[in-house]
Amino acid sequence: MKMKRNILVTAALGVAFLYSGLLANAQDFAPWPVPDEAAAVENPVALTKESLQAGKSLFDLQCKACHGESGKGDGLIKSANLTTPEFLAQTDGAIHYKIYHGRGVMPGFSTLPDEQLWDVINYVRSLSMVRDSADLKDATISLYFNDAEGQRELTAKVEETNAEGEVVPVAGMKVNFAVQTHFVLGQLPVVPADHYTNENGMVTVVFNDTLIGDGEGMLQVVASIQDMEYKPAQVTEAVGWGVPNPQDYWTERRALWKNNDYVPIWLLISFTGSALAIWLTIVYVALLVRKIKLEGDRYENDVNT
Ligand code: HEC
Repeated sequence: MKMKRNILVTAALGVAFLYSGLLANAQDFAPWPVPDEAAAVENPVALTKESLQAGKSLFDLQCKACHGESGKGDGLIKSANLTTPEFLAQTDGAIHYKIYHGRGVMPGFSTLPDEQLWDVINYVRSLSMVRDSADLKDATISLYFNDAEGQRELTAKVEETNAEGEVVPVAGMKVNFAVQTHFVLGQLPVVPADHYTNENGMVTVVFNDTLIGDGEGMLQVVASIQDMEYKPAQVTEAVGWGVPNPQDYWTERRALWKNNDYVPIWLLISFTGSALAIWLTIVYVALLVRKIKLEGDRYENDVNT
């Protein structure tokens, strides 16, 4: 009896949970009135590339989790869609008021410098502009390694081809650096992780030389750009600036994906062991079945005689 009730309660809770999920998705937020004088405030920050980039950094850090990458309100927490015509019809002042004060789940950001709020507003507005990837420009990245004076420097140069067909440097471009080591999967940032190119299209970072490379100390250096005016680009180059990895024998030579000669010994033992165990079980069960059949035959014989 008690068990039946538990099942019923669980089922009811499950239905309620699913239903509340549907409701939360269907529900929109109540109108959010903004005082006229707040709505009339004008955005003092011009819509420049720098402002958009600053706004994007802040958005990715503070807003993306709820509002989603594209601002459609599809982040981890159900939140407002910042790309609808209704949303965009508001003044920057009204949006500023809402971000500053917050409401309910939406936190207020009154502690942030005002300029950053305007940057993020510029960025949020840019989210709903249709950007055709064909309109984006092409840029190329080249890497230079400099090992002089005991300091390892890595320079990236970003260039584009202008309308006259000349190759010209791209200044003010943010370049992200990463190192794909052999031993650690994923990317380790070099110091500093991102930098902007100078008027010659170049940016130089100091290389952190304690990273573990492959058996020969090779590292894969990755430089990439992600910009609103340019197509994303990336370049990867190997350089022997890592510490040779002494554990290469185990991680590379005797790896699962290698041929039989290099199968790790522990794997060989455990694989053979499990195969053996499975066959022994099968044989044991077969013997049991035979025994049951013999018993049955004997029983039949007994009954018949
Ligand atoms: C914890 C989740 C969360 C975070 C973080 C968050 N928001 Fe929100 N945001 C919401 C929710 C939920 C609403 C709807 C609030 C309401 O209307 O009651 C909202 C509403 C808004 C609105 C008003 C939308 C409208 O229709 O007028 C703006 C603008 C906004 N958020 C911008 C931002 C910005 C910019 C950031 C980062 C600086 C941010 N939010 C961070 C959850 C969040």
